[in-house]
Amino acid sequence: MSKKPFYLTCAIPYANGEPHIGHAYEVIVGDVLARFKRLDGFDVRFQTGMDEHGQKNEQTAAKLGITPQELVDRVSAQFKQLYDDLGITYDDFIRTTEPRHQSRAQAFWNKMVENGDIYLGKYSGWYSVRDEAYFDETELTTTSAGQKLAPTGAPVEWMEEESYFFRLSKYQDKLLELYQRNPSFIQPKSRYNEVYNFVKSGLRDLSVSRTTFKWGVPVPDAPNHVMYVWVDALSNYITALNYPEAGDGSLMDKYWPADVHIIGKDIIRFHAIYWPAFLMAAGIELPKVVAGHGFIYNRGEKMSKSVGNVVAPADLIGRFGLDQIRYFMLRDFSYGHDGDIWDEALIERINSDLANDLGNLAQRSLSMIAKNCGGMVPSHGDFTPADQVLLGKAYGLLAEVRKEIDGYAFHKALERIWAVIGESNRYVDEQAPWALKKTDPARMETVLYVLAETVRCIAILVQPVMPASMDKMLAQLAVPADARDYACLTADKALVSGTPLPAPSGVFPRHVVAEVAKG
Ligand code: MSP
Repeated sequence: MSKKPFYLTCAIPYANGEPHIGHAYEVIVGDVLARFKRLDGFDVRFQTGMDEHGQKNEQTAAKLGITPQELVDRVSAQFKQLYDDLGITYDDFIRTTEPRHQSRAQAFWNKMVENGDIYLGKYSGWYSVRDEAYFDETELTTTSAGQKLAPTGAPVEWMEEESYFFRLSKYQDKLLELYQRNPSFIQPKSRYNEVYNFVKSGLRDLSVSRTTFKWGVPVPDAPNHVMYVWVDALSNYITALNYPEAGDGSLMDKYWPADVHIIGKDIIRFHAIYWPAFLMAAGIELPKVVAGHGFIYNRGEKMSKSVGNVVAPADLIGRFGLDQIRYFMLRDFSYGHDGDIWDEALIERINSDLANDLGNLAQRSLSMIAKNCGGMVPSHGDFTPADQVLLGKAYGLLAEVRKEIDGYAFHKALERIWAVIGESNRYVDEQAPWALKKTDPARMETVLYVLAETVRCIAILVQPVMPASMDKMLAQLAVPADARDYACLTADKALVSGTPLPAPSGVFPRHVVAEVAKG
């Protein structure tokens, strides 16, 4: 049977500054989802890349005394390096300056023109270069020095230019219909009203070309215009699938519509309003879900270079370990809400959830097996009700976890897994295999078997979040690489007694964290 396709994307960051922990969070979430779906039997395509055009890049490059191309080459390489450091398993990384993107973005534009949804007009208004967006007079604030600011705090300037317009107003009702028909289109729910009310309050046509700078995709047949950077950037989700190529065997045919666009809360408007309207105008199916995550702060403060509180992902990985950071981000932050990251919180999580709970469970189970069962998967007799309860919970976890992941509640998925880890640790204490060693060695083997089998299920489930550590744990249980997907989370794929096991070693050493804490 052919696998069901699952297409997910992360936003393509602006190529004008170094990557920070917020960018890291987004691609880690995307990566966890991609890995989860692969293990759960889907044919996954995970797409990201770089947003390389726009006036901001032109200006940054000029300040640095380099060309825009040199700037975006440099920044793209930094992001790619970060994604490698984070173990991100993307399938494609598209840069909007690549010829393959530009020609296809132009094809997308032409489709909207054919449909009569793009026309030439004049634009004047308050424009923020930093946000690459125009703002209404009513949305602005004014500083004591008289400088007008966008809601994001960025300065705006008055701009007037000939511009192509997209007939966004024509799509107002169609968009409202879309949200009503498909309330899960915008995730999480808390973001839905924000978008709905914005559209309901009225949509004006959108200026979609610029003549005041050159660093962009040229508008077909109007070379003095470049495309508005959001038309250019959003289209990456289909240009990376070779749009307009269609038909049997094409990537568009296989993977479009996207199952989910993973993005931050600040760009929901672009993804939940403009993007579906552009797609309707081009006669292309709409993505299934736009899922907006919260922002990451440093102890409640926005990170900025001037405050000097920017958390560099490479620094965190170096001090705490990659899997530890991945786990923390998925477990501590509730998708859709803002979160804080700081050393003490990380240390607490790593010590309690990883070293104490999961690490300790695996470590004590495996070392008792190594010492008392000849270094092999233990034999087992009949399972007692207590054994059956624990094993039942281990096998039942996948369904619970899947439900949480499908609702973007990654923290709850982990909470459920950790509840079973807690029960397993209580089971060890209650069954006291160390005492059974003398009184009933056969029962001791059964207890240790149940523990090993439970750890197998947990390690298989946790792989998307902590791939390297779970690889280590599964290797210690001699689980072959081809027996680690979610179809193996059943009793008939259980560990086979008598299988030789390698010598165990700790997966989450606690003392490392203690040393880090001391600095
Ligand atoms: N280039 C646009 C996206 C175009 S997608 C077709 C953009 N770039 S960005 O670099 O500003 O942001 C990239 C992603 O990172 C966005 O989803 C944004 O919400 C996210 N984050 C940026 N700062 C963040 C935090 N501090 N915390 C979490 N995510 C944040 O927007």
